Amino acid sequence: MKTNQYSGFHKLTMEQRAAEVAEFSGLTEEEIGRLTNPGALTNEVADHVIENVIGTYQLPVGVAMNFLINGKEYVIPMVLEEASVVAAASNAAKMARAAGGFTTSYTGNIMIAQVQCIGVANPYFARQNILHHKEEILAIANEKDPVLVKLTGGAKDLEVRIVDSQIGPMVVTHLLVDTGDAMGANAVNTMAEAVAPTIEKLTGGTVKLRILSNLADHRLARATATFTKEAIGGEDVVDGVVAAYAFAAADPYRAATSNKGIMNGIDPVVVATGNDWRGMEAGVHSYCSRGDHYTSLTRWEKDADGNLTGSIELPTPVGLVGGATKIHPAAQACVKILGVKTAAELAQVIAAVGLAQNFAAMRALATDGIQKGHMKLHARNLATVAGATPEQLDAVVAKMVADKKVSVDYAKEILAGMQ
Ligand code: MEV
Repeated sequence: MKTNQYSGFHKLTMEQRAAEVAEFSGLTEEEIGRLTNPGALTNEVADHVIENVIGTYQLPVGVAMNFLINGKEYVIPMVLEEASVVAAASNAAKMARAAGGFTTSYTGNIMIAQVQCIGVANPYFARQNILHHKEEILAIANEKDPVLVKLTGGAKDLEVRIVDSQIGPMVVTHLLVDTGDAMGANAVNTMAEAVAPTIEKLTGGTVKLRILSNLADHRLARATATFTKEAIGGEDVVDGVVAAYAFAAADPYRAATSNKGIMNGIDPVVVATGNDWRGMEAGVHSYCSRGDHYTSLTRWEKDADGNLTGSIELPTPVGLVGGATKIHPAAQACVKILGVKTAAELAQVIAAVGLAQNFAAMRALATDGIQKGHMKLHARNLATVAGATPEQLDAVVAKMVADKKVSVDYAKEILAGMQ
C-alpha cells in the first residue's frame, strides 16, 4: 500500500495485512517475518535480557491506520491484548484527518538525574553553593560519557531544590542531561553517582540516592488535533466530549480511567518499540499529579466554530537506541514500520496516539457507550474460539450481537445450526 488510508484493511487476512504494511514501510521479507513468525525473540537472546529466564511470551501486534502527524502518514504498531483499542485509534485518526490530523512538538531529549543529600545544616546556603559550582559539576558528570557529550553535549544544566521531609530538609540536585536518541537511564545514573562526592563537599551533607526521575518534565511531547463537528457526529458530540473531559479534569476517580484509556494507546507503542512502559506510566501519572489533585492528561475544548479541539502534554522517557529496542528483533521491525528516525519523533507519535485514543473513548462514552463496539469485537474473539471459519465469522458475530448472547457456548450453538 502507498497510503495508510486503506479501506477494508481489517477484512484482509493477516498475511495480506502484513504484506501491505511491509510494502508501506519498506520491510524486507526477513524483517516482516520477525512479526509474522512466532519465536522472533529466541531463547538464547531472551536468556540474556532478564534473569532466571524459562521462556518467552507472545502478544498480538496490530497496526493503527490513518494517522497523519505533522503532515506525515504513519502506520503505528501496537502490542496489546485488549480488543477495540487498535480499531478505536484508527477510527479517531481518520476523524482527525478532516482538519489536517495531528500537530506535535517536543521540548528535547532531556532526562533528570536526582542526587539526594541529607543532613545539611544550612540547606539554602548549600543550594546556592552547588549552583555556584555548576560548571565544575557538569564537567565531572560529562567526563563519564565523552561519546554522549560529543553527540548531544551531555549534562547541560543543574536545578537544586530543597525538599521538606519527615527526616528534615533535603538538598536535591537535578542534573539535566541530553540523552539524545537513548532513553538514557544508564547514562544519567552514572553521572549522578559521579557528582555525588562533590555535592557532599559543597553541602557538608551526605548523599544518599543517585537515580533518574521518571517525572521527565524536561522531555515533554505535545500533540493537538481539531475534530470537526461534522466529522464526529455533530455539535452534541462535541459538547458530550467536553463534558466527559470536565468530569476527568475535576474528579481523580474519573481521571484515572480516562488516563488509563490514554495509556491504552500509548503503552502498546512503547512496548512495540522495545521501550520501558513502566517508566512511561510513572512519568504520565506523576505529571498528572503536579497540581492539587490527580487530573486528566488531556484537555478538550470547543473552538469558536463549534469544533472539538484536543491537546495533550506528557513526559516521554523513551528512546530508539539502547535497551530492548536494539535487542528485540520484533521491536526493530516495529520501529521500521513506524518509520521514526529519532526519539523526538517517536515521542511525538506517542503523544498523538494518546490523544487519539482518549478521543475515541470519550466519543464512545459520550454517545453509545463503549459496550456496543466492545461486544462486537468480543463476539469475534469468542466465535473464533468456538471454531468459526473466516467465512462463518461475520454471520456468527451478527447473530450473537443481535440476540445479545455473547458467549462461546452460544457461538457453538449457532455454528451447529449452520451445519
Ligand atoms: C477501557 O480500557 C478504557 C476506557 O475505560 C477509557 C475511558 O473510560 O475513558 C474506555
